[in-house]
Amino acid sequence: LLGSFSNLLGEVDEAGVATLTLNRPKQLNALNSELMGELVAACQYLDRKHPSARVIIVTGSGSKAFAAGADIKEMSSVTYSEAYNKGLLDGWETLRTIRKPIIAAVNGFALGGGCELAMLADIIIAADSASFGQPEINLGVLPGMGGTQRLTRAVGKSRAMELVLTGDRLSAAEAVSLGLASRAVPAAELMETTQKLARRIAAASLPVAAKAKECVNQAYEMTLAEGVRFEKREFWSCFALADQKEGMAAFIEKRTPVFGDS
Ligand code: HXC
Repeated sequence: LLGSFSNLLGEVDEAGVATLTLNRPKQLNALNSELMGELVAACQYLDRKHPSARVIIVTGSGSKAFAAGADIKEMSSVTYSEAYNKGLLDGWETLRTIRKPIIAAVNGFALGGGCELAMLADIIIAADSASFGQPEINLGVLPGMGGTQRLTRAVGKSRAMELVLTGDRLSAAEAVSLGLASRAVPAAELMETTQKLARRIAAASLPVAAKAKECVNQAYEMTLAEGVRFEKREFWSCFALADQKEGMAAFIEKRTPVFGDS
């Protein structure tokens, strides 16, 4: 078990799969600032300091919601100067600095900041009961945790624009068909499927998985030429690792590689 948090449950299994559960079920796991602080701190700890964590799963407690958004009650009376001066909700971007792969297991509503949190993860696995949306327009605001950017990159301009301007929701099946989620599974199988995937990723060399993640994410940041150059340098750098020698030797010797993360 990972530390004592008020709004988060955390554990790491023997395969190195960490599971962080947003734990405000009565508020549909609405993301208040305390929860944000705890989730970011837990991810940073798992990324840089935990001795055995290799992959991070983020999910919501209860069967109804992954997260129903930023906490509206906490935000409702905020003034512009407070939002600007305190950098309201800008802490979430810290998750981009996490090097270990993050999988969002979306178990219900992923709305507003909840959808944006899922999109901050590297892979989204959706329960068939999941529902994604950016309903901020109905609250007199707009998506402010990356939604206008990441949803547009995930599903294309026209669909993203429609979703952001209407607040309509996407079903799990639609999210998969648009490429927002990588798959949809029966709700009862969500955690088992996600853990199985996480264990497969956990078996990889950690530095190589982190480099591969960084390269894929660069596709959102760079031109194709710059991205390909970035990728090439990361590819070459793998040859500095014992894990490259081990991976290729294991193939040639017809055995399973044993990676040492070095
Ligand atoms: C605070 C929330 C909440 C939220 C739900 N709750 N969502 N509290 N912030 N985002 C609380 C409700 O107030 C209620 O508490 C309890 O959770 C259960 O919710 P209900 O509405 O009673 O459930 P239900 O009727 O089943 O409807 C589910 C729902 C609805 C459709 C998900 O709760 C909903 O529309 N929630 C808000 C979704 C949303 O607009 N999200 C975007 C937030 S803005 P009580 O105590 O009343 O029983 C945002 C901005 C991000 O995310 C960007 C900022 C930078």
